[in-house]
Amino acid sequence: MDLTERLRASGQEHLLNTEGLTEEEREAYLSELSLVDLTSCEACGRTAAQRGKISPIEGLSADAIQSRLDEYTAAGMSAIRAGKVAAVLLAGGQGTRLGFDGPKGTFNMGTKRRPRYIFELLIENLLSVCEKCGAFVPLLIMTSEKNDRETREFLQQHAYFGYPKDYVRFFVQEMYPCTDFDGKILLEAKGKLALSPNGNGGWFSSLKRAGIAKDFPDVEWYNVFGVDNVLQKIADPAFVGATILSGAPCGAKYVKKRRWKERVGVLCLEDGTPSVIEYYELPEKLAKARGKGGELLYRFGMTLNYLFSARLLDEISTAKIPIHAVKKVIPYLGENGQTIHPKKPNGYKYETLILDMVRLSGACLPFEVIRGEEFAPVKNKRGRDSVSSARRMLWLKGKL
Ligand code: UTP
Repeated sequence: MDLTERLRASGQEHLLNTEGLTEEEREAYLSELSLVDLTSCEACGRTAAQRGKISPIEGLSADAIQSRLDEYTAAGMSAIRAGKVAAVLLAGGQGTRLGFDGPKGTFNMGTKRRPRYIFELLIENLLSVCEKCGAFVPLLIMTSEKNDRETREFLQQHAYFGYPKDYVRFFVQEMYPCTDFDGKILLEAKGKLALSPNGNGGWFSSLKRAGIAKDFPDVEWYNVFGVDNVLQKIADPAFVGATILSGAPCGAKYVKKRRWKERVGVLCLEDGTPSVIEYYELPEKLAKARGKGGELLYRFGMTLNYLFSARLLDEISTAKIPIHAVKKVIPYLGENGQTIHPKKPNGYKYETLILDMVRLSGACLPFEVIRGEEFAPVKNKRGRDSVSSARRMLWLKGKL
């Protein structure tokens, strides 16, 4: 099917209007258009999928980990030394809640006199593992078209905060078109589509497309983590070892939920398969349910730190990761030819989520980490999970 037919078939023929564009602009626009994935828009207006039967999962508690810590650590260190583990930093998000005008990793958690950038803190955490193991872990950084250049330049300027350049790779995630509430793709300006990063679930297909795996042929495990959590351990040998020894193709670090109401996605079983359920999808009755010892049955709060086996990813990469439509404010081309910046959500952005990969994995090991030790997310400007709460925790750990 040629482009015109494809656009007609998907109800997007309004995009064929190239009035007012120069020949050069027209060519550039049509070539961008030909690369756009139109299937994402099929998720327009789709409500969250009906969930299956939810039941509690069993996980490795901090005490259980402690009792086999040496064994887990040894198994993890040996995998790291053999080059079997890579770290994947998800840094393609837009960090709108933080309201910082730049890639989130370039945010300074310290002071002007003593800057402590998020990227610096994360790399420092990874370096401490590398030193312990006597081997470097490939650090694969996912960016988006919106922040790729700035991210690379920043890390280059700071000499990768001491990480050897040969072990660092960047790859850019794909973009999905944004639509209005009727599923019509929006233009941001004349000859320019409104596009947004395709969500953190796109990491594996983008990594594959970038062809990075061939640089590190021994990698069998990917430790995938978000940019937000400045305290997390990366390529944590105990986590790697416990997952490998469990035989599961996936591991997920969790913190115990503090209150039943805490707004965090939880790992549980859905129709008998491990699955992450967002806090707003978990019925109140289940969220409040407690076991015999008084503990919350659905307490496995996700920290966005997963371990996936490369083999598993090869198997599931062709399976369909669901695409979610999220209501957002999207600047668009008005009738007068100017870009309009609406105040309220005016359409959908589309994204895939890494948490959906857990369900596709079939088996997953929940691995507990202690909040004060390993969980200081920087999501908001103030209040919960904010710059100030994370600063306090960094300070308590002597990292500021
Ligand atoms: P969030 O869900 O917090 O999204 O991302 P965000 O875009 O960073 O922040 P808000 O919601 O606009 O405030 C969790 C992790 O997934 C990465 C982020 O960089 C962060 O590490 N991410 C998110 C991507 O890499 N790509 C995306 O398209 C979205």
